[in-house]
Formats: sequence, C-alpha cells, structure tokens
Amino acid sequence: MRLLEKLLVNNPLYAWMQRREVANLHRLAPLPAGLTIMDLGCGRGVETALIAATFRPGRLVAFDLDRRQVLEAGRRLSHNGAADAALLMADASRLPFGDERFDAAVEMAVMHHVPDWRAALREVVRVLKPGGSFHFLDISKRRYGIGMKLMGHDMQALFTIDEFRTALEDAGMTLERGIGRPVTPVFDMVGVARKAA
Ligand SMILES: C[S@@+](CC[C@H](N)C(=O)[O-])C[C@H]1O[C@@H](n2cnc3c(N)ncnc32)[C@H](O)[C@@H]1O
Repeated sequence: MRLLEKLLVNNPLYAWMQRREVANLHRLAPLPAGLTIMDLGCGRGVETALIAATFRPGRLVAFDLDRRQVLEAGRRLSHNGAADAALLMADASRLPFGDERFDAAVEMAVMHHVPDWRAALREVVRVLKPGGSFHFLDISKRRYGIGMKLMGHDMQALFTIDEFRTALEDAGMTLERGIGRPVTPVFDMVGVARKAA
C-alpha cells in the first residue's frame, strides 16, 4: 500500500467503521460459534480481533502479504486476548492451505489490491469446505476514480461490481446476499457468497 492509503486505513476512524462492517458481515449470514475461519488480508489485525469477537471461531487463521502489517497484527492480538489466531504472511492469489480447510472466509478491502483477484476468488473456493461462506466488503473501480490511481492502484486490475459478481459465480460461488451497500461510506460493495454444498 502507498503511504496515502496506509494513512487512510490505519487510524481510529477506519477502525470504528471496521467494527460496524464486521458486525454487518456477520448479520448478513450469521454463523455458529466454533467454526474454522480465514481472515484474508488482515492488515494490522483490527479486523482479526473483531472477527474473533463477532464470529467466535474455534480456529482463526489470518494472513497478509505485507510483513509489517502481519507483525503489527501480532502485537495487537497479543494485547487484546485474540492471540489464539494463527498469523502468517501469504498471497491471496496463491494460498498456502490445503483444499476444503475453512468453513468461512472474510475479506475487507483486499481484493482491489490483488492484481489477479479472479485467481484469489478461485483460491477462496478451493480452501472453503463445501457449503462454506465468503463474506466480502470491497471497493469497485467506479468508487474513487482518480483517488484509486493516487493510492497506486493499477486501474486495469480493478473490477466493477458486475465483474466481481460474475467472477464469484465463475469461481463456483452463489451469491447468497446479493452485492449490496455497506453500512459505512468508504466501501461500495458488500455481500456473502457460498460454495456449493
Ligand atoms: C486496504 S488494506 C485492508 C487491510 C484490512 N483488511 C483492513 O480492512 O484493515 C489492504 C491489505 O491487503 C493486503 N494485500 C494486498 N495484496 C495482497 C495479497 N495479494 N494477498 C494478501 N494480502 C494482500 C495489504 O498488505 C493490506 O494490508
């Protein structure tokens, strides 16, 4: 991430929005406690702690491509009691996990960073168990226009909401909650997709 985006996402206002958005992601398709959940692109761990508190997984595995974010997430989680989460460095488009390991996957504002985001969606499907759910919150290419360029995004690699919807289906997921509006203003797409049981 460029410095501009780091400043935008690593601050208390963004953390407040994350709290509301994680609660919404759970409300859209509530899950029982005790599941195995993947936090895809955990950033500095704020959402990891929120997922731990809201989804109450039995096992939580969180990863990010950026080593510094992973280290910061580790410090944060060891301070707030969610230290049981497994943290690692990994690339969303080449997940270091076996097939059908997770009951659910959660991503917040990551797919628009991944050049091959379609491959990342296929990877999510691969590691989800049959019937597993994918809770996503993201930003489409229409959202910020030039702002996305200033943050260093490759405009060719960004997606429209329709492209994302089609790619989810092509990857083998069914939209359980159609792509809707998030509860805070930063993002413009939220939903839950499910792998066939
Ligand atoms: C806008 S931040 C969001 C972080 C976190 N999800 C949040 O909402 O605070 C995007 C994150 O995606 C991570 N990221 C970018 N490309 C990635 C990839 N290919 N695999 C995993 N993480 C990636 C970045 O390092 C960064 O932490």
